[in-house]
Amino acid sequence: MTEFRTIFEPFRIHSVEPLRVTTPEERAAAIREANYNLFALRARDVLIDLLTDSGTGAMSRDQWAAIQRGDESYAGSPSWYVFRDAVQALFPFRHVIPTHQGRAAEKILFGVLGEPSKIVPNNTHFDTTRANVEHAGAEALDLVIPEGREPANPHPFKGNMDVDALERLLEERAADVPVVMVTVTNNSGGGQPVSLENLRAVRALCDRYEKPLFLDACRFAENAWFIREREEGQGDRAVADIVREMAGLADGMTMSAKKDGLANIGGFLCTNDDGLAQQEKNLLILTEGFPTYGGLAGRDLEALAQGLSEAIDHDYLRYRIVSTAYLGRALADSGIPVLEPIGGHAVYIDAKALLPHIPPLAYPGQALAVALYEEGGVRGCEIGTVMFGQSPDGEERPAAMELVRLAIPRRTYTQSHVDYVIEVCQRVAARAEELRGFRIVSEPSALRHFTARFERL
Ligand code: F0G
Repeated sequence: MTEFRTIFEPFRIHSVEPLRVTTPEERAAAIREANYNLFALRARDVLIDLLTDSGTGAMSRDQWAAIQRGDESYAGSPSWYVFRDAVQALFPFRHVIPTHQGRAAEKILFGVLGEPSKIVPNNTHFDTTRANVEHAGAEALDLVIPEGREPANPHPFKGNMDVDALERLLEERAADVPVVMVTVTNNSGGGQPVSLENLRAVRALCDRYEKPLFLDACRFAENAWFIREREEGQGDRAVADIVREMAGLADGMTMSAKKDGLANIGGFLCTNDDGLAQQEKNLLILTEGFPTYGGLAGRDLEALAQGLSEAIDHDYLRYRIVSTAYLGRALADSGIPVLEPIGGHAVYIDAKALLPHIPPLAYPGQALAVALYEEGGVRGCEIGTVMFGQSPDGEERPAAMELVRLAIPRRTYTQSHVDYVIEVCQRVAARAEELRGFRIVSEPSALRHFTARFERL
């Protein structure tokens, strides 16, 4: 029997949340009141919320059931052991340290390993990772392969680390490198995967220079699915197996479980190094909590344990990756420039290419994101000069790319929601030349995209 073409949502709906339909006039008023910053909108004024895939997914029946088993003992809760075992089943590291989300794990890791004069290489640091490295006084260096910086390049593993560049860095400054990080998938580079072959090459370099390799593993399952689909010889393997091999190549990891943990909150960090684990646990107690719950309630630990087992399900992952690509392909087929190949968790529209009449310092990504909201109540996120253009010296510089990210929450929206998003994008693209840029009227000294106020030019 030939396979069916239709790839459907591998779940049926058990509990529903109403969506509030708004009028164009209501949306115009809401975004004006938010000073054209999408982070300042009330979520009830958003119809389809693609701001992030983090913590916004739907939990399963079995996760809600697991929450009922949550045991809130301060120390040694049964829920802790369920969580630890679920983590180690996929990531067989000696120490598992729970935190309330990914950036808390980063804060603790770089609180121990980062210090002035140190330099941390990564394929591409996510903004909180970079901020935590820099907060510790160290330098965050992005070493993704050159193809990873070209929006239209179809390379299958655009998240790969530039191994030659890493080798040059280690040759020159090995003593200053406390850890080598690899982010799977590479979120800031477009949700692009890293191959096993690349991880093995990075591992070999780390061995030669005796450096620990850590994964930023937020989207580990999506990365493993891409390996299964795209990497030579991997097509028959279980994703769980590929994940264990990825983990086996590393010495530790940081994790935001709000992504492939399929939970609304949570994170953890892992290491095989007893001394490092001890220092991390000392910091954990200061900021997060006792090591058998970290920053989480017992019920969160249970939901996460169950979520990790669902995230590696092949039917789920096939649907997940295909449905993200469905949105991306539909946009590309209607002439809207998108970053290729389509990533695992999001579609990135190239606003620079769509709105060539808006210069970078008039924020084409912001113009597009605002227009998508005004047109149809769709909330995306500018990833361009608004997010990256501010520099510590006060000068403003254009970002390398002007993107709008449409991030897809897991198991949350159906294909008809996505069809609606496609229609909204097509309508905005049809009047692209009418869109105007913005100027910033007030901004904080750092991470301005969250709170800046804008005015239309
Ligand atoms: N690392 C990566 C690759 C991420 O994408 C994120 C979060 C974090 C670390 C931090 O985790 O939010 O749990 O503290 N990314 C979200 C996003 C916020 O929208 O891409 P966190």
